[in-house]
Amino acid sequence: MTQINLMSPEVLANPYPYYAELRRLSPVCQVEPHGMWAVSRYEDVLFVLKNPSLFSSSGFTVAWQPAWVGYNPMANSMITRDPPQHTRLRALLLRAFGPAALARLEPRVRATSERLASGLVDGADFIQTLALPVPAYVISEILGLDHQLLPYFKQWSDDIVAITPSPASPEAAERIRGTIAKLTAYVGKVIEERRRAPADDTVSELLRAEVEGQRLTDVEIKDFLILLLIAGLESTTNLLGNSLLFLADHPEMMTRLRVEPSLIPSFIEEMLRYDGVAPGVPRIAASDVTLAGVTIPQGSMVFPLMSSANRDDRKFPDPDRFDLTRGSQGGLAFGQGAHFCLGAMLARMEVRIVLETVLARFQRVERMPGNIQYQCALTTRGPVALPLRYIPVGG
Ligand code: HEM
Repeated sequence: MTQINLMSPEVLANPYPYYAELRRLSPVCQVEPHGMWAVSRYEDVLFVLKNPSLFSSSGFTVAWQPAWVGYNPMANSMITRDPPQHTRLRALLLRAFGPAALARLEPRVRATSERLASGLVDGADFIQTLALPVPAYVISEILGLDHQLLPYFKQWSDDIVAITPSPASPEAAERIRGTIAKLTAYVGKVIEERRRAPADDTVSELLRAEVEGQRLTDVEIKDFLILLLIAGLESTTNLLGNSLLFLADHPEMMTRLRVEPSLIPSFIEEMLRYDGVAPGVPRIAASDVTLAGVTIPQGSMVFPLMSSANRDDRKFPDPDRFDLTRGSQGGLAFGQGAHFCLGAMLARMEVRIVLETVLARFQRVERMPGNIQYQCALTTRGPVALPLRYIPVGG
């Protein structure tokens, strides 16, 4: 076991030097927490992601559904399933989550982003003002949730993401179980309403979706909608936070994107590679597996580090340099293989629109005094808060 703890404050603040050490010295090794097996080189991370028969996604179920939680819809959703069960679910869900849904959303995302941008006054927290409410709005549109519930989304999402093998306290356990019960009941009500009166929205499409005579069950739809709430909120918020922090530290990049907004999509792809928001994903070794000459015992928790793979110089020359012309397509930031992120196109669209909104209004953003605190989580990375100064165009 190495001395590296992926949850220690130093690693959370800047994991990249630690990843480089892992790649150089111990590309497959046990780390803290929980003695899980970190996999850090591009080629090996890709191998883990592309071989679900050796590395099962039930790692998520183990992590998200310890006995004290009871039934957790996220822990039973498609992201935790292996082929062939996953293949069937994904085929059904893809239909309801395609380009038509995106096209429907884009104008509303732009209008929301522009309305909220008026809150970007000096010292305003970019996360609370724009980076969180825009994805929350999008998710509530997709799920058909009442917009008045938006302020609760983050708490719900934080509660579910905060599940650990034993609860932090009896009160925390009670709160998390309560959140799951509330969310499940609410989503169930939405499904009932759409069944009675179908609308032009994603939930109605999920109820209609059929592949080779098979439909989704209500439980499968509920599990999926709750997965969407968490997967769609946290990651997009963090990518926006990491992007604005980068622009605050690199004003020349902000000028370049303002002059040439057509470069924004390349900026997003390179940002995904350079400072990704899903550092890794849990898997379980389905049998003893030898990787890079190291044997991982059956049943072990394996953690392929996509954010480390994305800084591997065997794949990306001069990997610590942010390069708009690299054409990296985000590297492995959205995963790879069977579970490749279903929301990748949606996330790219949301982030592009928010960046366009910000770049049209401000020539520069600057950090406020004080250190940036990063989330304390294994599977997500982003600043908890991001207060900035916003210097208007022509100001
Ligand atoms: C920057 C934003 C995002 C990033 C970096 C990201 C990253 C990922 C990654 C790495 C996976 C693969 C997990 C695995 O292999 O175990 C994944 C899966 C998934 N993501 Fe995203 N995600 C983002 C945004 C979204 C959004 C906006 C949605 C939907 C609203 C979404 C929905 C999903 C779903 C449903 C899956 C499971 C797919 C499957 O199991 O087949 N994601 N995401």
